[in-house]
This record gives sequence, C-alpha cells and structure tokens, in this order.
Amino acid sequence: MIGVIDSGIGGLSTLYEILKLNPNCDYVYYLDSINNPYGSKSEKELKKIVFNNVIKLRKKGCKIIVLACNTATAICIDELRTTFNDLIFVGAEPAIKTACDAAYKNILVLGTPLTVRSKRVNSLVERYKQEKQNVILYACKNLANIVEKRNILEVEKELNKIKKELNCCYDCIVLGCTHYCLIKEEIKKILGIDAVIDGNKGIANRIKKLNPLEGQGYGEIILTDDKINLEEVKEILGSCKVC
Ligand code: DGL
Repeated sequence: MIGVIDSGIGGLSTLYEILKLNPNCDYVYYLDSINNPYGSKSEKELKKIVFNNVIKLRKKGCKIIVLACNTATAICIDELRTTFNDLIFVGAEPAIKTACDAAYKNILVLGTPLTVRSKRVNSLVERYKQEKQNVILYACKNLANIVEKRNILEVEKELNKIKKELNCCYDCIVLGCTHYCLIKEEIKKILGIDAVIDGNKGIANRIKKLNPLEGQGYGEIILTDDKINLEEVKEILGSCKVC
C-alpha cells in the first residue's frame, strides 16, 4: 500500500496519475490542509510536520511513501530516506531535466518559496541546464494557498499578478508545486503558453515499477481539518481540476 502526503489537495493531481496507470493500487492519502502552506514554513518546522505524517502512514501499513509535494521533497526526502530505511520514498520534483532535454531556451520554473530556495532544486538546474539555456526559478508566495481555497476568481487574479511581476521571456513552464497542476489550464491561458510540464506521470511510472502487484483498490483519505469534505476531495481526484 502506498501512502501519499501533501499539504492539501495538490497531491491529488499526483494520485490521479498514479491511479490512471495503476487502477487497483491501494492507497492512503494524507491531506494535511491544517498545515498548509508548507512552502512558507521554516525547514525545521516542515521537517517536524512531514516526519510525523510519515510515522502515521507507516503505522497504517504503508510501505511506499509518495511525497506528492515538491516542497516536502526538496526539504525532507534525504533525511527521511536515512531515518526510515524500512520505507521507500518517491518524491515530486520539478521536471527541469525534461524541459532542458526538450531544448527549450527559456525555462520558467514556478514553485513555493521554500522549493525555489532549496539546494536540491538549485542543483537540478546546475546539473541539467545546457549552454544557451536559461532556467528562471520563480517563487509564487501565495498561489498554493489560493488553489487550496478553490476560488477560481482568486486563482486568476493571482496568476495575472504573477504575469505582471514576471519580467522575462519564457518558452516553457515547469510546474514545481503539485497544487499548480490543478490549475494547469488557467496557467496556460493567463501566462500565455502551451508548453507546461509537470512531473506526475513520472511518479506514476515509478510506482508501477515499484508496486507491480495489482492491489485491492483500497482507498482512504485522511483529512486534517474541515476546510474540505470527502465529496469535494473525490470530485477533484476524479477530474484533476480545482473548480
Ligand atoms: N503541493 C505542495 C508542493 O508541491 C505544497 C504547497 C504548499 O503547501 O506550500 O510544493
């Protein structure tokens, strides 16, 4: 059984792709909206939260933990791997390699402040950026939090604000936060570009390799507050859209 963690609904976009490729995969989704946003916490605070969540999922019998959250991956995955060596961790990372390999010239990576500042993501840029390519890391301060509230007008307003602040050319956008995957169409429309890449399919492929057994189709969602109910969660999981 896999355990999936995010600071809210963003990781449902990851689970959506996992279930598309592995329809009977057993899962427990830990929807940690009480701690949203992860991206504005200190590293110390975030590690404490994520480690506790992992312990809860391990108690439930999860053997594979998917950090369906770029922020938690950037800050916690190395330490999680050394601490819990009985578990397998799969992380969400901005698909910078995919964008660089596709030879885009100006790659804009959108992420939370913590992700964009992280050593892990900056070293991905160093590793994959080719000569004559620009990779711009842009921190969206409030976007994940606004997506979590599921108000499409607020989402559009924030994207328009980001567009004004972006003082650069880009021919590709990499989504470095799973919450942004739920507003992919709005990002394409407002930021004016069709080449928008996310890493969710890569995670689904990895789960297929790690967890080849069929499973019973067991699914459990753990809510940490009442900002959202199970019906609303199921709707997002079925459509991979926020509104
Ligand atoms: N969905 C998350 C990510 O991929 C976290 C967003 C947040 O809580 O700040 O980074």
